[in-house]
Amino acid sequence: MKRVITYGTFDLIHYGHINLLKRAKELGDYLVVCLSTDEFNLNEKNKKSYFSYEERKQLLEAIRYVDLVVPENNWDQKRSDVHEYRIDTFVMGDDWVGKFDFLKEEGCEVVYLPRTPEISSSQIKSDLKMK
Ligand code: CTP
Repeated sequence: MKRVITYGTFDLIHYGHINLLKRAKELGDYLVVCLSTDEFNLNEKNKKSYFSYEERKQLLEAIRYVDLVVPENNWDQKRSDVHEYRIDTFVMGDDWVGKFDFLKEEGCEVVYLPRTPEISSSQIKSDLKMK
């Protein structure tokens, strides 16, 4: 079984997220989503999500492409995640291109998928403020 992992906040799930998850799942048989915790978002990414970790997790678990949701607590856990979840393919949107190539040293493939244009959680939040 080919196992794939991806990371993110996935707040206010939108079609850009679904597109990413669908393509990530197509690269293998089992998709792990490593979901940024509220503390990690606030302290490290300077982001406050609209939905809490538990809410975002529940939404992701309802998506057919997602097999497992686990917490992302820090920037440095990726190497150990690759081993813990026996990952074959690490996937990120191409806003991160090149940043995680070091994971190839751990024996996994690293893939950057093109982002879906013109949609993001921050864009939704700012558009709604205008209404
Ligand atoms: N993503 C994507 N296309 C988009 C938005 C996000 O492919 N239009 C991907 C990102 O590249 C990432 C994953 O979805 O691999 C989770 O992204 P996240 O940062 O949670 O979503 P954004 O909508 O980009 O959130 P924000 O605006 O807060 O950065």
